[in-house]
Amino acid sequence: MRVVATDFPLNQPLLLTPTMSTSPIRVAITGAAGQIGYSLLFRIASGAMFGPDRPVILQLIEAPFEKAMKALEGVAMELDDCAFPLLKGIVMTDQPEIGFKDANWCLLVGAKPRGPGMERADLLKDNGKIFIGQGQIIDRVAADDARVAVVGNPANTNCMIAASQAKRLTPDRFTAMVRLDQNRAQTQLAKKAGADLTAVKNIFIYGNHSPTMFPAFAHATIGGQKATEAITDHVWLKGPFLETVGKRGAAIIAARGASSAASAANALVDHVRDLMTPGKIHSVAVKSNGLYGFDPEVWAGMPVRTTTPGAYEVVTGYEMCDFCREKIALTNKELVEERAAVVEMLKA
Ligand code: NAD
Ligand code: LMR
Repeated sequence: MRVVATDFPLNQPLLLTPTMSTSPIRVAITGAAGQIGYSLLFRIASGAMFGPDRPVILQLIEAPFEKAMKALEGVAMELDDCAFPLLKGIVMTDQPEIGFKDANWCLLVGAKPRGPGMERADLLKDNGKIFIGQGQIIDRVAADDARVAVVGNPANTNCMIAASQAKRLTPDRFTAMVRLDQNRAQTQLAKKAGADLTAVKNIFIYGNHSPTMFPAFAHATIGGQKATEAITDHVWLKGPFLETVGKRGAAIIAARGASSAASAANALVDHVRDLMTPGKIHSVAVKSNGLYGFDPEVWAGMPVRTTTPGAYEVVTGYEMCDFCREKIALTNKELVEERAAVVEMLKA
């Protein structure tokens, strides 16, 4: 067992400054010394995820390798050197039982990224098993209000795997990230329309975080106008737009030689912040329960409305055209196949 530092012992009372009115939120992050981790931790510690008044304790979990733990020590040194007022403690460990203990949010980033020429589903066998163990441990030791956000690929199915292992925490506590895809789609629509990014609203991602995902452009608006009216090139909407968003991850790998990291960390900040902000409507992969024609047992991207911090309901009112239904059927098929590929693992 290795716990490098616990400079904030679990359960110790905290001295807060007068502006910090609430108790610190415990955020467990796996793969904390990885590429995404390196962009993510500093954003969380600065208040970007939970707001400028909410102190945080970072519970950093890495793989049990000397190199990974050493790298994590370096990252923690840099966090210290930022002197973030909100950062009330850092736990560094290669033991998930310690890292997830009493965590309010569990951000599951730690997993192998794909290389050039691979699809995300190719990672399933290697990465899937990580989420069996983590699902069980989170269910055992995390806080009663624990929420889980999965980023490690293939994110939807890994999330389904983790949720399948939980008895105490209900499936709605487990979400996977499709926010990077929403952000990508928003930017592409704005560029095509020659509009400011903020003019683009209601672009939501349905299905898998993979090239089959469906960004439902017909529901989007640009400057209050339907996107399909603001952009009259419908061939582009149905072709290059979907292709660019769906294959953006691969394009970044081809250009950078490594998978997206800063934009993924930014999307995770958006994902969690909006799930903590009542009224926000945003794309999240959740257990479908059969909504929008998805298999009830898969985790599929869809629009959700945050109801109370951490809780949400699926927005069900969007009408789907024949083209949309075809696209949803395709991404659903892939999710069902991914589930079938790991179904034996779920029983282990
Ligand atoms: P990375 O290789 O830079 O970092 C991954 C880290 O996870 C490493 O430090 C590794 O030691 C650690 N790790 C591996 N197994 C672990 C375990 N069992 N417990 C704790 N830590 C563990 O990779 P990255 O670029 O940070 O990407 C991480 C994952 O996120 C990949 O699977 C990648 O494909 C995925 N990703 C998802 C999205 C998305 O939108 N959902 C976007 C970008 C990347
Ligand atoms: C992305 O969409 O950038 C990530 O999922 C990384 C990848 O493998 O595409």
